[in-house]
Formats: sequence, structure tokens, C-alpha cells
Amino acid sequence: MSNWNHRHILDLAAFSIADFDSVIELAHRFRSIPKTGARRLPALQGRLVATLFFEPSTRTRSSFELAAKSLSADVQSFTPATSSLSKGETPVDTALTYVAMGADVLVIRHNSSSIPQRIANALDQTNSNTRVLNGGDGLHSHPSQGLLDLYTLASHFNPQKPSSKELNGKKIVIVGDILHSRVARSNIWSLTACGADVILCGPPSLLPDTFKAFVDEPPPGQKKDPVKKRGDIKILYSLEEALPEADAVMALRLQKERMSQNLLTDLDQYHLDYGLTHHQLKLCGRHVPVLHPGPVNRGIELSGDLLDDKSICLVDKQVQNGIPIRMALLYLMTKMKSALD
Ligand code: CP
Repeated sequence: MSNWNHRHILDLAAFSIADFDSVIELAHRFRSIPKTGARRLPALQGRLVATLFFEPSTRTRSSFELAAKSLSADVQSFTPATSSLSKGETPVDTALTYVAMGADVLVIRHNSSSIPQRIANALDQTNSNTRVLNGGDGLHSHPSQGLLDLYTLASHFNPQKPSSKELNGKKIVIVGDILHSRVARSNIWSLTACGADVILCGPPSLLPDTFKAFVDEPPPGQKKDPVKKRGDIKILYSLEEALPEADAVMALRLQKERMSQNLLTDLDQYHLDYGLTHHQLKLCGRHVPVLHPGPVNRGIELSGDLLDDKSICLVDKQVQNGIPIRMALLYLMTKMKSALD
């Protein structure tokens, strides 16, 4: 296991290959541990995990809460609609309120990209020992989703001993609304770090060609890339070109709530051009798995038949893997030696 040095987890751009393997290895060990009852692990006994979801979630919030409980942490959730946000309290002050109540970890989701970083900065200025885990912020990042997708793919290619090596040289097609997707951005960092080539596919209005250079420079605030050689990024605008190359395909949700302009006018045409069906997958020429981070617009990104076909579609596995991955993240963050210890 690497020397874990991520005080907060805000994105995957700063992860080394050893970091990815630490998370995968630990999640794989946690996968078989009972989630309820007397046999669950006492690793986080006495710790408090607060889930501050300012934006809706089903999978991420529930699986972080289940992961925390599986490690015997106490969990405090927060409901924006009935909170003091309506009285003008800011998200940062809301977070600091939970810190004052003793939270060891804050899991933050917000529709603005800067909020988890701003909360982490506020904590660091006060020498607080509380950690921030980004549960999805705006268009920026969804690190735990990127990690559970990586683990799901590595486990698909090698069920007994999944690791980053399984992705080396693979070609992963990500199809859909790349422009608005924090999941795509996190997956691009993790997959290219592990040596996979990422093929982005979608309509030009949802796939700017600037994505080709997405990993060329370290992101703001990071001096250098922790990965020596990344996989390539290719942009293709048709499934007919993309699918024959694929070792796996990940479809993304059309984020209608984030589309301020008329970037897409015809959902039926979108499904015909970019929706995945059993028929379209014949273009792969062999059996390839299909992933989707959820929630799925059934019949748009994936046909209903394909979504329900568990021999191809790994959506349920992704949801299941979300719990051990989030257990691993909570464990690594809370066991990391703090500057105050
Ligand atoms: N994949 C994902 O983030 O789903 P939720 O919005 O349900 O958490």
C-alpha cells in the first residue's frame, strides 16, 4: 500500500498509480466484509462522517453512509430544503457548523465546482483535522465515481486480482454528454493514469475538441503530473467509428438540468445516433461490458433491454462496488497521520 498523502480528496488529477492501486486493493478486501450486524469492522468507531449533499443524490450519498456505517462510524446527514441555507447561511459556514459538532469527514456534493475546495481551504486555515471528500461538484470532479468505475473495470478484466495494470493498453469509449460531465472528467484522469486510451464520443455540441488536451497540463494548483506516461485521448463523433475500437463502453447521462442553451433539440435523434442498444453493440465485434454512472435516462442513453441485461450492463456492479470503494476512501483518509497527531 502506498504512503497515502491525500488530506482531502477533491479530484483524481493528483493520484499516482500507487494511490489508485491502494484504493482498489483495499476495496477488494472490504468487498467481502459484512456490512451490517456485529461482524462489521470497528475501524472508524468513534468517528463522525457528515454527508452534506447540497444537490440531489441517490447512489453517492447512500453508499457513503452505508460505507461509513460498515466501518462503525457515526453518520450525520443534512437536508438542504429544511436547513438554515434558506436563512442565508453559506455552504462554507454550514460545513463549519458540522465541524464544530465534531465531524471527522465531510462528504460534500454541490452544483458549484468550487465549494468542496473552498471548504477544504477554510478548514486548512484553521488547522482543523477534518477531511473533505468531494461527492461531486459542478462540472469539475466526482472522484469516488471515477474510482468505483476503475475498480469495476479492473474487476471485469481480472475478477480475482483487480489492479490498475488491467487497464493498461485498453481502449475505453465514453459516450454522451461529455461537456457537462464531472464523471467523464474524473474517469479521464484515472483511466489515462492507468495507461488506458480514452475515446470520447458524442455530438459536437456536447464534446468540445478542447477535451483532446484535457490531461496535457497539470490542473491549477498542482505543480506536476504524478503519472509519468498517460494513455491517449481521442475524439470521435460517431459510434460507428468508436465502438469497433472498444474494450469497454461507458454511457453518460444527458444532463438536461445543466443545459442552458439548446445544445440538444431532439432526444429521439440522440438515441438513434448515440444511444446504446444490443444492435449498436454489434459494432464492437465481440462482447464488451457497458457501464453508466447513473441515474440513467432509460431509452435515451441505453435501451431498456440493454440496461436490464446483466450479462453486458455493469450498472448494478458499479452501484455495489461504490460501497467498498467509499469504505476504502474513508479508511485511508481517517487513518492518515495528521499534522496535529
Ligand atoms: N452516479 C451518481 O453520482 O449518482 P447519484 O447522483 O445518484 O449520487
